[in-house]
Amino acid sequence: MRNIIVSIVALCLLVTACTSHEPQYRIGVSQCLDDAWRQKMNYEMERELLLHPDMAISRRIAYGSNELQCAQIDSFIAERVDLLIVSPNEAEQVKPAVTRAYRVGIPVIVADRRVTGDEWTAFIGGDNYKVGRLMAQWVTGKATDQGVKGKGEPFRVLEVTGLPGSTPATLRHKGMMEGIDEAKGEGLKAKVEVQSVMGRWYKENAYEAVSAYLDSHPMPDVIVAHNDLMAIGAAEALSAHPTKGNLPPIMGVDGIQLGLRAIVEGKITCSATYSSRGDMVIATAAQILHGEPFVRDTVLETTMIDASIAYPMLRQDEAITRDLETLHLFQTQTESKWRQLRFDRLVLILFVVFFFTLFIITLAYVFIKQRKILTEIKHDIIPQLEDMQEAIQLSKKDEAFAERLRQVVDDYLTDPNLNVEFLGGKLQLSRTQLFRRVKTVYGKGPLDYIREQRLIRADQLLHTTDMTIQQVALELCFSSAGYFTKCYKEYFGHLPSAR
Ligand code: FRU
Repeated sequence: MRNIIVSIVALCLLVTACTSHEPQYRIGVSQCLDDAWRQKMNYEMERELLLHPDMAISRRIAYGSNELQCAQIDSFIAERVDLLIVSPNEAEQVKPAVTRAYRVGIPVIVADRRVTGDEWTAFIGGDNYKVGRLMAQWVTGKATDQGVKGKGEPFRVLEVTGLPGSTPATLRHKGMMEGIDEAKGEGLKAKVEVQSVMGRWYKENAYEAVSAYLDSHPMPDVIVAHNDLMAIGAAEALSAHPTKGNLPPIMGVDGIQLGLRAIVEGKITCSATYSSRGDMVIATAAQILHGEPFVRDTVLETTMIDASIAYPMLRQDEAITRDLETLHLFQTQTESKWRQLRFDRLVLILFVVFFFTLFIITLAYVFIKQRKILTEIKHDIIPQLEDMQEAIQLSKKDEAFAERLRQVVDDYLTDPNLNVEFLGGKLQLSRTQLFRRVKTVYGKGPLDYIREQRLIRADQLLHTTDMTIQQVALELCFSSAGYFTKCYKEYFGHLPSAR
């Protein structure tokens, strides 16, 4: 019985598991930061995921800490995720964890920031060197516009850098410096001088670094920040600083909504696009997981955005954000409906299992009970009935025998020949048979029975006729009146008396 119940429950759980819509692939996403650019990337990933219901992502954010990011990647490895997406904080420091994941056989997509070496499955990200070259182009253009300053004054460029160990910061700086050097080699007149302060990708850091710079340096001719956030931080530092004068133009990087808005509002001058393309990252993950061909190294294009195109781009971006938000809302609602549906189904299944089990138990109980009753009838009641029937049969036979015995004894009471042999002959029974049967019916032997009947008849005669004791004793074949008297007294308890 226990086995039946366990099997039913197991079957139900199996049915629930099979029909539930749990995604088949689990993807770990390790993000180095949680700024606006990365939120856009996360949104794009989630939107693309709607097209891949067999995949689910679990996201962990390292908040700019290499150690935390390595630990988070290691926890994804321990959970045996099916694929890992990493946007490394700093290339060298995060590389060991990425390599560990890759070496245990987890496909790794490196997104946006590269890691050194080639132990990864796919890369999708912008061309940071090219971003640096765009920065150089813009800087040298501004320097050319301004023309050569007097008294050997340099054209001052203030670079606000991202986190030094991250590939975008390194490559953007490199691209810019090499671009400027190339322009110099190609005959750039201005004496371009670059000074760098560290913003580590954050607006607040950039604000402080630029403010500190302004305290001890003349106003730069241009500011180039490695991202829009830091460009805005630099702009705010400039407007807040007491040594105001002509505010220099500022270039940012990313071209995300807040950067576009800053351009439209005239806070910063321009920005270079740096696409996040979370959708492409997820699409590539799907190709890898489904064993389809995929591009190993995807480098995204970058272009310059200035005030002439910032406004339409901002509107378009806002519209996309709204769509994404609506989509996200829709997704959340759908998920909650799915959850409700799954819960309802589970309740229903448990309900059915419960009543089905109850039904089986009742059935088994009735079956067992019936078998017990049948066994009882077979082993106890039927034999008893048979015994009773036999007893009834026997007593019927005995009655018939007693009747015949009584008849014969009655007929021959006064006949001196009435003895055991005579009676046996009349009833067609041997001496032994006669003795056994008379004993069964009357509890005494045939001779005692005959004597008892004779005494009863003698008593009747004494009471109903004028016969004397002597006459009655002779009539009923007693050997003498004395013997009759003795027997009479023994049987009735008193002496016989005639009328
Ligand atoms: C966001 C960000 C962007 C930048 C990119 C480089 O975390 O700082 O602003 O362009 O990372 O990886």
